[in-house]
Amino acid sequence: MRGLIAVLAVVLTSAASAQTQVGGPVDPQRAERCAVRLGIALTGKSPSAALLSAANPQLEVDALLESDAFIERFARFINTTFNDTPGTNSIDDATYHLARHLLVNGKPWKDLFIGPYDVALVNGQVQVRDDVNGLGFYRSKAWLERYAGNEEDGVKLATAYRILNNTTGLKLNAAVQTPGADFSATGRQNGACRGCHFDGWFALDRVASVLTKKVQTGDTITFTAPTAGPQQLLGKTVSTDRELMNALVNSAAFDFRVCRLAFQFLYGRNELSCEGPLFDRCIDAFRAEGTMQAALAIVATDPSYCQ
Ligand code: HEC
Repeated sequence: MRGLIAVLAVVLTSAASAQTQVGGPVDPQRAERCAVRLGIALTGKSPSAALLSAANPQLEVDALLESDAFIERFARFINTTFNDTPGTNSIDDATYHLARHLLVNGKPWKDLFIGPYDVALVNGQVQVRDDVNGLGFYRSKAWLERYAGNEEDGVKLATAYRILNNTTGLKLNAAVQTPGADFSATGRQNGACRGCHFDGWFALDRVASVLTKKVQTGDTITFTAPTAGPQQLLGKTVSTDRELMNALVNSAAFDFRVCRLAFQFLYGRNELSCEGPLFDRCIDAFRAEGTMQAALAIVATDPSYCQ
C-alpha cells in the first residue's frame, strides 16, 4: 500500500509539473525576485510570506490565478483596455462586472463576448444575471447606450468599432473631425473615408449594418432591428450581432488578442518577436482550455518570466 501511495505521489507530481513548468528559480535570490515579480504582476501586492519563501514561486502561479486579488486586478485591467475612459457609473463598466463574474466562476473567456448574461441594476446594485438572450455584456442596456454613437441615421459605428477593438485589438483613429466632410453614409463612401468605413475586413459601416439601429426620442434611446440583410464578414455570412460575435470569437485574431492581453498584463508590453514560440504555446493552451488563466499561466510559468 505504501508503495502504491509513493507511486501515486510520483505520478501526481509529474502531472502537476507537466501543467506548470518547473525549471524556474533555484537560487534563493532569484526565487525572491521571482516571488516579488509574480506577486506584483498578478495581484498588485507584495508577495505573501509563503510565496516569498517558496523555492520555486512559479509553482504557485495556478493558486495566484485563483486569488481574489488577481481577479479584481485582471477585471480592472480588461475594463481599462476595452474602454477609453472609465464609465460615469459602475453600471457603465459592464466589461468589468462580467469579466469578474467569469473569472470567479471559472467560465470560458469567450463568454465575455457571447455568454448568456445581462449586466443590470437590481435595487441600485450592479448584478450579473443569467439571461438566455444575453450576448456577453454587449446587450446590457447601459453598455448599448454608452456606445450607441451619434451617427445621423442611428448607424452604430461606435459600437461596431468597440466590438472589433475588444475582440481583436483593432485600433483605428476616427477621422470624424475632418472639417467640411460629408458625415452621411454616402459621404463615408468617399476616398478618404472608405478605407475604414467600407473596405477591409473591419469595414465599420458593414459591421454596423448587422447591429440594431439607435433611435433617440428626447432622452430616451431605443433600438430597432437591422434591415441591411446578410453581410460577408470574416469569411462568413453574418446577419445579426450574435452571428457577428460568434464569427469574431472563433477567429484566429481572437486567440491572438487573448495572448497579447496576457503579455500586456504580465509584462506591460506586447510580446517581442523572440517570444514567438512562447506566444504560440499560449495560443495552444488557450485553444485547449478556453480560460484566460490558461493563457496567463503559460507566460507566467515560463522560465523567462523569472530570469
Ligand atoms: C482611420 C479609420 C477611419 C477613417 C479614415 C474614417 N473614419 Fe469615421 N470612424 C472611425 C472609427 C474608428 C469610428 C468609431 C469612433 C468611435 O468609437 O466612436 C468612426 C466613426 C464615424 C462616425 C460616427 C460617429 C458617431 O458619433 O457615432 C461618422 C459619422 C464617421 N466616422 C464619418 C467619417 C467620415 C465622413 C470619414 C471621411 C472623411 C471618416 N469617418 C473616416 C474610423 C475612421
